[in-house]
Amino acid sequence: MATVSKRLLLTDFVSSNKIDQIPSNYIRPLSQRPNLDRVFHDSIPLINLNHLHGPNRGHVIYQIGQACRDYGFFQVKNHQVPEYIITNMLQTAKQFFNLPEHERLKSYSDDPNKTTRLSTSFNVRTEKVANWRDFLRLHCHPVDDYVNEWPNNPSLFRDHVSEYCRSVRGLALELIGAISESLGLDEGYISEQLGKHGQHMALNYYPTCPQPDLTYGLPGHTDHNLITILLQDDVPGLQVLRNGHWVAVDPVPNTFIINIGDQIQVISNDKYKSVLHRAVVNYDKERMSIPTFYCPSPDAIIGPAPELVTDDEPAVYRRFTYAEYFDKFWNRGLSSENCLDLFMAT
Ligand code: OGA
Ligand code: NI
Repeated sequence: MATVSKRLLLTDFVSSNKIDQIPSNYIRPLSQRPNLDRVFHDSIPLINLNHLHGPNRGHVIYQIGQACRDYGFFQVKNHQVPEYIITNMLQTAKQFFNLPEHERLKSYSDDPNKTTRLSTSFNVRTEKVANWRDFLRLHCHPVDDYVNEWPNNPSLFRDHVSEYCRSVRGLALELIGAISESLGLDEGYISEQLGKHGQHMALNYYPTCPQPDLTYGLPGHTDHNLITILLQDDVPGLQVLRNGHWVAVDPVPNTFIINIGDQIQVISNDKYKSVLHRAVVNYDKERMSIPTFYCPSPDAIIGPAPELVTDDEPAVYRRFTYAEYFDKFWNRGLSSENCLDLFMAT
């Protein structure tokens, strides 16, 4: 059996060794494997945001509310993020992961508290089984506070990524307003709970994998933030849990995938669920995905919206700061046991 990689990053282990078996530290126990032949192929709602402003707003809000309640996931088209910005973002991400090892390693850190860092798997300090992924994680709001710590190779990295961040933030704010309204709250309610707001992103690179049945890019997890806006290339890998079955969500060009994170589940007092999802890897295709994690700022206090707490539906969660939640999320590791369980009302 292959042994543990001596390289810091998976990218370099895979490209420098002709492997036909994955190292033992990537192998999941039998009961936790992806069972790829039992995965369903289905779609999630596709919502056209063209009419978000205008006489049909009510209908779009209704569709968004229904998707949040029933799926926790939806796709959007006509989202107003220009195609060239998306193309530049994907290209920049590919160029970054194609840089020589010593160039990429300038950004390496295994400390989850660093605001810019390249790392591998999920949390190499705490996890027992590794994941088939490298990732570059960036904080990106306000952009000017962070852009100078981002990589500057490829040379247009900062330009292209900051342009993408600003544009996607516009979409995030539209969606947060719509989700707020869909809960019967004021359009601005959720946005006002987020302090100065936060925005992080990951550039996920999943190399080809000789044994995709034994491991994950990311195992089943919920997202700890408010909402996630996922951009992916044209290679499948995302799977969503629906009615107890894993469903593969194959990429649709020019759309983003949106999912509800734990903080919306809290604010909605469990009306909307933060749904388990995972990324699997492919035998012969590498994959890139670029999630934007829109979130409260660390000092923001999050709790169920008072308007959604009644005698019949008492508060499910206590109030907490987002900093407290973020810390628990990274130190617990990805697991299907929800981090939210630690924040229940007593
Ligand atoms: C994540 C995530 C899915 C993917 O980064 O939280 O769920 O398809 N990514 O990469
Ligand atoms: Ni996720």
